[in-house]
Amino acid sequence: YFSLTSDSWAGFIADAQSRLSASPRLLILALFNIPLVAIALNVLWQWIAPRDPSLPPVVFHWLPFVGSAPSYGNDPLKFFFECREKYGDVFTFILFGRKVTVALGPKGNNFVLGGKSVALSAEDAYTHLTTPVFGKDVVYDVPNDVFMEQKKFVKVGLSTENFRAYVGMIEQEVSDFFRRDPSFQVFQKNTTEEWGSFDVLKALSEITILTASRTLQGKEIRQSLDKHFADLYSDLDGGFTPINFLFPNLPLESYRKRDVAHAKMSQFYQDILRKRKEGGSEYEHDMMAALMNQKYRNGRPLADHEIAHIMIALLMAGQHTSSATGSWTLLHLAANPDIAEAVYQEQVEHFGSGDGHFRSMSYDELKKLPVLDSVIRETLRLHPPIHSIMRKVRDEVVVPPSLSAPAEDRSFVVPKGYYVLACPAVSQVDPRIWKNAEEWDPTRWSDPEGAAAKAYTEYNDENGEKIDYGFGLVSKGTESPYQPFGAGRHRCIGEQFAYLQLGTIIATILRHVELRLPGPFPAHNYHTMITLPKEPRIIQYRRRHRE
Ligand code: HEM
Repeated sequence: YFSLTSDSWAGFIADAQSRLSASPRLLILALFNIPLVAIALNVLWQWIAPRDPSLPPVVFHWLPFVGSAPSYGNDPLKFFFECREKYGDVFTFILFGRKVTVALGPKGNNFVLGGKSVALSAEDAYTHLTTPVFGKDVVYDVPNDVFMEQKKFVKVGLSTENFRAYVGMIEQEVSDFFRRDPSFQVFQKNTTEEWGSFDVLKALSEITILTASRTLQGKEIRQSLDKHFADLYSDLDGGFTPINFLFPNLPLESYRKRDVAHAKMSQFYQDILRKRKEGGSEYEHDMMAALMNQKYRNGRPLADHEIAHIMIALLMAGQHTSSATGSWTLLHLAANPDIAEAVYQEQVEHFGSGDGHFRSMSYDELKKLPVLDSVIRETLRLHPPIHSIMRKVRDEVVVPPSLSAPAEDRSFVVPKGYYVLACPAVSQVDPRIWKNAEEWDPTRWSDPEGAAAKAYTEYNDENGEKIDYGFGLVSKGTESPYQPFGAGRHRCIGEQFAYLQLGTIIATILRHVELRLPGPFPAHNYHTMITLPKEPRIIQYRRRHRE
């Protein structure tokens, strides 16, 4: 075959064509067999092709192009743990034609999250997903140094002064929600057996957007939540899925709706900015107010569309992460009434007035509630909302020998064009690191000698130096086994806000009700961008006080 000349090729093709047209059955058979032949060649290739020892091992897969997408997509943690058994901490898998090199464990986290942005780029990995949703000229649509400046602007808005104003607002939103939401209309009247029930993710999604818009997003957004803003948000959100990550442009209705919603939402924020500039509305402690006063290093103030798009990015960044974490936390509290009671008693002790009523928490007090804090921390250990953190390789990178093949003291090289992936979720439940790793046990955070205390110290570099990537001094924390908020230059800047928001929501809910879990604990749903509890995720509640 391979020695055929071009003349004989032509003859061969003509011959094949005449045979096929002479026999449609042969054509059908050939077409039918193409996938089988492709699968056979793909498998054969993996068995017989000589392996380049400088490349990480490739995870065996039956289907060409699709690769390991089904196993990874259904349960990435199970897939990664199984691959670790076979290939070690570093391996490459195929994800719809992309080559993704996974680096596991604290050293793997450090390799990916501590990598230099010139070699490992977040914007190249994410922009096709995020730019149609957030908009132009922000986040991953700009060079990394510009985004780092934008993170600095956002940090100005995430100030302690603003946080102090937020706690009372969140308490009020949660209490109002409890008063008016149809799921919470069961009151204790005559018997103590009057339990109601609610879908935890639905309730927490609503509470999260209500509280985020009341605080960070500003009162104009809060006021429009009940009207068209919620629909716009929902259409935009429909464009932020794993499908959008895998296939940036498909002729689907959800993509079209995403684009329309983005244009309208961008305009909506820009209109608010215009009105504020004209002096038509009062504002004080929100993010838009903070961004309006910022200037880039070259002296240029932020354009209105940049402020609008940063606001959309923050809305999206905080919504699912916080609502998922809040949901998992409540599910665990419902399944562990003794710990829920400990959180409640902490509230009684600090804020109770003795007659079943509570005074408001201050931000400084909220930060000093160890039981509440450990409940959230432990939930984020078992259920970090983001399981895969990716970067695209711009310039080939060497994986250190201690991570590549420690026994042989040799290094893998990850070529340009590959993706690298860190999964702190693996090291957060690794039985080699944590005692009873799979068990939700908030008390582990109060053991000064345990793995949790060590991981926490490493995450926050309590004994080490802080680094400035362009948005102020932060803990690097890249080698900790506990990194629910990422690490390095792309580390989350919403962490304190998230703790403030979640802590206030959980405490306020427990002030109102007792919880119990009527069914089995929900499994993880990995088919969404953020790891959510699968249905059914119903929690039962009973009001603490008779009405
Ligand atoms: C980055 C988690 C809440 C804004 C990140 C990253 C993680 C994360 C893992 C790193 C992503 C990467 O390296 O590619 C979480 C969790 C949250 C949360 C678990 C809540 C429980 C928030 C909130 C905001 C926010 C409330 C905004 C107010 C951001 C921003 C980044 C980020 C701006 C930086 C992205 C970058 O530099 O590439 N978050 N986040 N997050 N998060 Fe959060």
